[in-house]
Amino acid sequence: MTNRIYLDHAATTPMDQRVFDAMAPFTMGMYGNASSMHTDGTRVHEAMDNARDQLAGALGASASEICFTSGGTEANNWALKGIAFANRHRGNHIIVSSIEHDSVLNVCQWLMKQGFRITFLPVDGEGMVDPLSIEKWISPETILISVMHANNEIGTIQPIGDIARLAHEKGIYFHTDACQSFGKVPINVSKQPIDLLTVNAHKIYGPKGVGALYIRKGVVIEPILHGGGQEMGMRSTTENIPGIIGFAKAAELCLEEMEPERARLNDMRNRLVRLLEEGIEGVYFNGGQEHCLPGYLNFSISGMEGESIRLALLLDEAGISVSTGSACSSNHNGNPSSHVLQAIGRNPFEARGAIRVTMGRFTKTEEIGIFYEKISEINQSLTSIFHR
Ligand SMILES: Cc1ncc(COP(=O)(O)O)c(C=O)c1O
Repeated sequence: MTNRIYLDHAATTPMDQRVFDAMAPFTMGMYGNASSMHTDGTRVHEAMDNARDQLAGALGASASEICFTSGGTEANNWALKGIAFANRHRGNHIIVSSIEHDSVLNVCQWLMKQGFRITFLPVDGEGMVDPLSIEKWISPETILISVMHANNEIGTIQPIGDIARLAHEKGIYFHTDACQSFGKVPINVSKQPIDLLTVNAHKIYGPKGVGALYIRKGVVIEPILHGGGQEMGMRSTTENIPGIIGFAKAAELCLEEMEPERARLNDMRNRLVRLLEEGIEGVYFNGGQEHCLPGYLNFSISGMEGESIRLALLLDEAGISVSTGSACSSNHNGNPSSHVLQAIGRNPFEARGAIRVTMGRFTKTEEIGIFYEKISEINQSLTSIFHR
């Protein structure tokens, strides 16, 4: 795997060595069960408490408001199903944005079968939800609004503070999926009336298979797993201690390094935008440039939309990893149209043809230059085949 250029950090990130080092003692020597009362257990419990404090601090929450999960998918499932079933007596209507991750959208499809009514909010050409437009969708039956903090395909960052305030004014819970944004841009639940928030570790140079749901004190929600009563009785199962320790360390590092890293990633992204604009005819960008996650760029080449998979495969052969959409959508057969690109106004053909480049902590400026050289070479050779 050495010498490859990895530009798919929205799918997952490499683990930081410092995270690995923090986890290592808990994978072998410190193996106690955090629920055991002997020294092996209590030491591990203490470490877990510290990790919970650390993650809570990173979000502006209290430790008792953080429940660890197996990842973002589980936390999103829990937020939506847990609120829906605990608050059914108040209403059966939920509002989500139309560009949510599948771990929200597919839960909504399932909830519809259970008798819930779901409104899918439209977004503008940059992928932004207009907070002022939400009011007209709210009914006395509305119990939850869920809008992701930042999108995984185009990187658009939503005005979640405004949406959360509107929800609160109406007595409606607000959930946000912050899997893509956490650690990259500031987020603080003590400054914004967010009731539930999803995060995970593998997007921030931490381990896979661990995440968390922030649940504001007083929120009425059903538990996700019934059993021995771990995680304040809300999610029973023996805790994934190495994962939890790694998650907290990863969050700490992201917060410490956020500002310089944000500037560095944005510089590289701007450089790539300039190179593509100047060097590739017909290139266009999907999503806004202003309210966008650092280092995220989603673009298409006019007339080549149907060839995006071929482009990505040829880049792969050349040693460069990029994505044609979200990593999860590649679990579908074939090359489906992206629901995100369609929501921002692309037609179904255009919505099949994007390249997503997402840079990260270990991306070097030279690699952006190499990516640009390769993609223009491949584009030129494909164009000459098609226009012969
Ligand atoms: C926005 C968003 N939400 C949720 C998830 C799911 O997270 P996990 O892979 O930890 O289940 C992802 C990961 O792809 C994501 O990008």
